[in-house]
Amino acid sequence: MEEELKKLIVSLNEELKTCQKEADILNVKSKYVGKKSRIMEILSGLKDMSTDDKKKYGSLINNTKKEMEQIITTSIEELANKSNILFDDTVEYDIENGSLHPVTIVAKEVTDILKRMGFTVVMGPEMESEYYNFEGLNIPKDHPARDMQDTYYLDNGQLLRTHTSPMEIRSMENYGAPLRIAAPGRTFRNEDLDANHENTFFQIEGMVIDKDVTIGNLIYVVQNVLREIFKRDVKIRLRPGFFPFTEPSYEVDMNCLICGGKGCPTCKNSGWIELIGCGMTHPMVYKYGGVDHEVYNGFAFGLGLTRLAMMKYKINDIRVLNSGDLRSLEKFDIH
Ligand code: DAH
Repeated sequence: MEEELKKLIVSLNEELKTCQKEADILNVKSKYVGKKSRIMEILSGLKDMSTDDKKKYGSLINNTKKEMEQIITTSIEELANKSNILFDDTVEYDIENGSLHPVTIVAKEVTDILKRMGFTVVMGPEMESEYYNFEGLNIPKDHPARDMQDTYYLDNGQLLRTHTSPMEIRSMENYGAPLRIAAPGRTFRNEDLDANHENTFFQIEGMVIDKDVTIGNLIYVVQNVLREIFKRDVKIRLRPGFFPFTEPSYEVDMNCLICGGKGCPTCKNSGWIELIGCGMTHPMVYKYGGVDHEVYNGFAFGLGLTRLAMMKYKINDIRVLNSGDLRSLEKFDIH
């Protein structure tokens, strides 16, 4: 028995080494720990063993299964980190002549803060299906909420994702509950351009699923992230909002740091900048993601990284960030 369990782990490790993409790992996962796997067969055989054998092998078998699951999770995370080109620390750049892009810097800062709070960083595709971008988030075909997120529909039936929220469903499918993920990335909308709107921008999604999660937990996470980014307490306000994938839903605004709250074109003279959409995840979303809402609940948020970079570096026009004009980026003196 011991020998067989050891062999299972060795061959699992060997098969994982050959995996190039997440789908390959998920196939290996179902082969090794899925319903029809050898370890499940051994586990279900436990009940027919003598009391002595049960004592002898019970925890060994269970621990082996846990170890295999852990190995698989680690290999998924390693793969995600490998494809995490946004933050490729190994690329060398000339300090004298270049700098990281402001959005890259805040993206890295926010993910580092969330990682310290126990979140796993995951990356998803920019070309998405309607299902993950809308339906799975409780936004059916003719729902008016689609109007607010018009996007570019591609000839192949896919679309450019309008937010990072599809990663909520993808992560629930991949990892189940409990869950704590952060998903940064590029997002797109068919927008009229102005100082505050671009058709290409960056967001980071956060999602927590656990037992007895409250709105208090959500506010703490949001406040903590902003405090660490700006290295001081930042004035925020929570307004009721509407998102079909959360109930209740909120918008978090922060005091405009360009004008100090007095009113300017960047904040449309309101003194506030809308930074985060969030709320307690809607039961339908758990249903689509395959999570048992009788047992688990939680929150999710989408933070605008582009706007955050504008606030942090006091950039008053969003178009500067995508312009590729190095002179305007150099002005911010970021290294
Ligand atoms: N995806 C929304 C947007 O881009 C923001 C958002 C709202 C994200 C609520 C969430 C959420 O995770 O729970 O407008």
